[in-house]
Amino acid sequence: MARKIVITSGKGGVGKTTLCANLGIALAQKSLRVALLDFDMGLNNLDVAMNIDRRVVFDFIDVVEGRCRVRQALIQDINEPTLYIMPSCHQAKRIVTVDMAKKVIARMEEGFDYILIDCPAGIDSGFRRAISCAEEAIVVVTPHLSSVRDADKVVACLVNAGFTQIYTVVNRLRGDLVMSGEMLTPTEIFSLIGQTALGIIPDDDSINCLTTAEGGRRPYRILADNLHLGTAKMYDCLSRYKGILGRMRRSIKRKV
Ligand SMILES: Nc1ncnc2c1ncn2[C@@H]1O[C@H](COP(=O)(O)OP(=O)(O)OP(=O)(O)O)[C@@H](O)[C@H]1O
Ligand SMILES: [Mg+2]
Repeated sequence: MARKIVITSGKGGVGKTTLCANLGIALAQKSLRVALLDFDMGLNNLDVAMNIDRRVVFDFIDVVEGRCRVRQALIQDINEPTLYIMPSCHQAKRIVTVDMAKKVIARMEEGFDYILIDCPAGIDSGFRRAISCAEEAIVVVTPHLSSVRDADKVVACLVNAGFTQIYTVVNRLRGDLVMSGEMLTPTEIFSLIGQTALGIIPDDDSINCLTTAEGGRRPYRILADNLHLGTAKMYDCLSRYKGILGRMRRSIKRKV
């Protein structure tokens, strides 16, 4: 049976879709069978993010309305044979009910180890629909007070909805700013949110939905290990900014 995990945040643009894509890739690289579901039904962009938009024939609505089977709407990733993406479309927002979505997911559960659900920002009906289909949640937060505050509201909603496993991922952490005391530390953020710390992703221009650079992939690989094996290793964003060399790197980064 698949682990069904919703990736949510509260605040928009903090990196949910990017995390969904890269975590999916990292899990698939362990030969796990992974499905990514685009539940951001108003502003769906997982297909573009995963570079499969030109291969979309059927989407979630076609499955829900019986025009195709689940298998026909799932698009296999070009690089990872065990990774599949279920695209959505913007009409889905008003058509798909929680019951419909749950039925589709129930048909997928046997065939996958992980079903990752990309959630819309906010805590309105789209968020409710997405969380109703999952049993675990990953809350993505950036090191800014507004993001932490919104994540806290999302955690309260998840707890009220009965979630017992909620993970936090700190995204876009800048080691240089943490070292100079200008950014919240990951420890502070994890303790403010008060849920299981799953991972830290640095702010890195090479990170996008199809991160291929080795340096960009490493933090997602650690995160996938923590999720799958229950380890608690954290990517170290700070060490390169410590010592004399680190001070030089910090001042160079400041000038860029
Ligand atoms: N760790 C990172 N380092 C640098 N850029 C990042 C990182 N994570 C995400 N981004 C960038 O931030 C932008 C927003 O990311 P993304 O679309 O994943 O956010 P989102 O939370 O899904 O947004 P929305 O709420 O609109 O769905 C993208 O341009 C993405 O490439
Ligand atoms: Mg998104």
